[in-house]
Amino acid sequence: MKNFFRKKDYSAQEGKFERKLGVIDLTALGIGAVIGAGIFVITGKAAATLAGPGVIVSFLVAAVAIGLSALVYAELSSAYPISGSAYSYTYLSLGEGIAWIVGWELLLEYGIATAAVAVGWSGYFRRFIEEQFHLVIPQALSGSFDPSSGTYIDICAFLAVAIIFALLTIGIKESASVNIVIVAIKFVVLGVFIYYGIKHVKFENLSPFLPFGWDGVWKGTSLIVFAYLGFDAVSTVAEETKDPTRTVPLGLVLSLVISTALYIVVAVVLCAMMPYDRLDVPDALAFAMYQNGEPFAASIIALGAVITITSVMMVMGIGFTRICYALARDGLLFKNLADIHPTLKTPYKASILGGALLSFMAGMVPLGVLAELINIGTLFAYFMVGLAAIAVRKYHDASPRFTIPLAGILLPLNLLMLIFIMVGLPGVTWLRFGVWTLVGLAVYALYGRKHSRMNDPQSDGPTP
Ligand code: ALA
Repeated sequence: MKNFFRKKDYSAQEGKFERKLGVIDLTALGIGAVIGAGIFVITGKAAATLAGPGVIVSFLVAAVAIGLSALVYAELSSAYPISGSAYSYTYLSLGEGIAWIVGWELLLEYGIATAAVAVGWSGYFRRFIEEQFHLVIPQALSGSFDPSSGTYIDICAFLAVAIIFALLTIGIKESASVNIVIVAIKFVVLGVFIYYGIKHVKFENLSPFLPFGWDGVWKGTSLIVFAYLGFDAVSTVAEETKDPTRTVPLGLVLSLVISTALYIVVAVVLCAMMPYDRLDVPDALAFAMYQNGEPFAASIIALGAVITITSVMMVMGIGFTRICYALARDGLLFKNLADIHPTLKTPYKASILGGALLSFMAGMVPLGVLAELINIGTLFAYFMVGLAAIAVRKYHDASPRFTIPLAGILLPLNLLMLIFIMVGLPGVTWLRFGVWTLVGLAVYALYGRKHSRMNDPQSDGPTP
């Protein structure tokens, strides 16, 4: 038990990276990770099956909860400008066992998110090749494993994940400047959607506004929160950032504010364009355009979604290999996952493992199931970071450059809202989460506790 609560001292840690990222790079990184399958796919599903047009309220509630988490991350990152994000913050404040669990949940966040986003990618990709080139993927190969509806594997999602991890294994990743271009494409795509969509707004589509009542809005929030996840990617590059105690908090907050503004407008336009019960399709934004006689806008949206969701897959895939690497370097996960390839200079074993497991998940498991699993794991990690912020304020003499205003109210409100959103997820998701967490605790008890680098008094601290 003593080991479970031992804390890492990061104060002596030297940065090993060149500091070259600024506010624009970080904001683009955040938007690059945040805007993806959530808005393009899950909005339609949440409106059609859970909340109706009330999904607009779900977006607002999720924005407040995740906005508070972003402030928490901003405060911690301005006190500790180290990489490793949630994992490092909990390691230094709540102890190794909690940090391990957070790292374990982040594996779920980034790993399964790569698979989930690939399923969203596949929906738009299939629509695009069908409309432009009349290429139709056979039914059996165009959906997750569900023999009753004639689908066995989503082959496009499977291949997308396999290719992304192959690229990561050989060391190809997006540079900060490519990311800025991708983010520009996201703005264009969502801008095109809003511009063409506004012409087809029919306010009668917004009524009834709450066909599933407030309960539906709550369940919708628990699903749609997926669209906001990933902003924490900004804090993982603190050691590569210029003036990080200012730049990282700004990047975190700006990326979330911009994404939220776009989401709300897109959600209003989408729900007003079509009756909500027709939106349960894999490519809701493009579908709504086709249905309203706007094939040009629909093609731009489908192509733009394919390009930009590819970048989310890449960011999430890198996140997965980085977390794997950090946990393995610290001795909490099997050490050879931190092996770096001698010529490619990548954590190739972590990439190959990720590619092998996650491509199957992308091919076989429905998007809704994956998204709920990611949500619960990530919200749990955000919850722990909220606790870490309280612990740091109480027991550490950190001097953050940014402090949360009205912390006595906003910190507990953040924790309560995260619990509220998690409780809205279905029981079966809690069960899967419970099993994953128990497996994590077992790995720690049987392996991590004994192999942790903290056991070595000469340890120079983790290098996340
Ligand atoms: N927020 C990310 C997305 O919507 C995970 O794809």
